[in-house]
Amino acid sequence: MNAPEKAPRTSKATGEKDTPQMKTIVVDGKERYFEPAPAIKTEEFRKVVISRRSVRKFTDKPIPEDVLNDCIDMALLAPNSSGLQPWDFYVVKSEAKKKKLVKICFSQMAAQTAAELIVVVARTDRIAEFSKRMLDEWPTPDIPTIVKRYYKLIPIHYASGPLNTFALAKKAAFAVGGLLYPVPRGPFTESELRLWAAKSTALACENLMLAFRAHGFDTCAMEGFDESRVNKLLNLTSEAFPVMIIAAGERAPDGVFHPQVRFDRKLFVHEV
Ligand SMILES: Cc1cc2nc3c(=O)[nH]c(=O)nc-3n(C[C@H](O)[C@H](O)[C@H](O)COP(=O)(O)O)c2cc1C
Repeated sequence: MNAPEKAPRTSKATGEKDTPQMKTIVVDGKERYFEPAPAIKTEEFRKVVISRRSVRKFTDKPIPEDVLNDCIDMALLAPNSSGLQPWDFYVVKSEAKKKKLVKICFSQMAAQTAAELIVVVARTDRIAEFSKRMLDEWPTPDIPTIVKRYYKLIPIHYASGPLNTFALAKKAAFAVGGLLYPVPRGPFTESELRLWAAKSTALACENLMLAFRAHGFDTCAMEGFDESRVNKLLNLTSEAFPVMIIAAGERAPDGVFHPQVRFDRKLFVHEV
């Protein structure tokens, strides 16, 4: 196991301890990891959220490489199920591929005019590999037993088996147990695993779009594309699929086609 070396720590008067990588704090007599929440200017965040619109027409302005990379880095920080990061980002740089992709997106104006097209792909095939990687790269010197157990269990828990046989057996077993107490109902089958991966990947898409907005650029999420042709263009395996294609660029003056529509929040917000 490649656990990092335990670094020396310097006690502070506050009870916090510092290491180059990690701060700790003593809570109830136990040393705990400490990551304080920084103050955020809510109005700046609100501006990013409110000004994000689906932009369907972009100017010719290119997105600087460092901005593009920063936005992707922020997308990679999205929350994700079990920390397993079930996504890939294909930044389509080849002009030939871009031309094909625009067609695959039914020549939507957002795709045609975008400075960048990013295909965000969900994957279900790296669960075992990334469970192992998580233990290899665990950020504290001692991996808690519960964490070790969890990541050893996940590949078994999530394995669907040939023709979903293993998945259906697990489903049946849990359904029996579920008559008495709460049990996990999935993800077991291949389609449940695809949904599992799509959830986290969609969150990464949102991070990506907000990051572009924070950098002064805009986006349009697209699912209007021929999935089979995207798979072929990117040589995706059957365990990978495009969740969204993000068109990004600078908003043209007439890039937003109409004011934003949101129905009455009473339709959606329930206090129970
Ligand atoms: C998953 C998803 C797929 C979308 N697909 C398309 C698309 O193919 N083409 C398009 O013009 N807009 C697409 N949109 C943008 C939506 O139409 C847009 O988000 C919605 O109308 C609300 O407008 P707003 O984003 O400006 O708030 C998509 C959005 C999402 C989240």
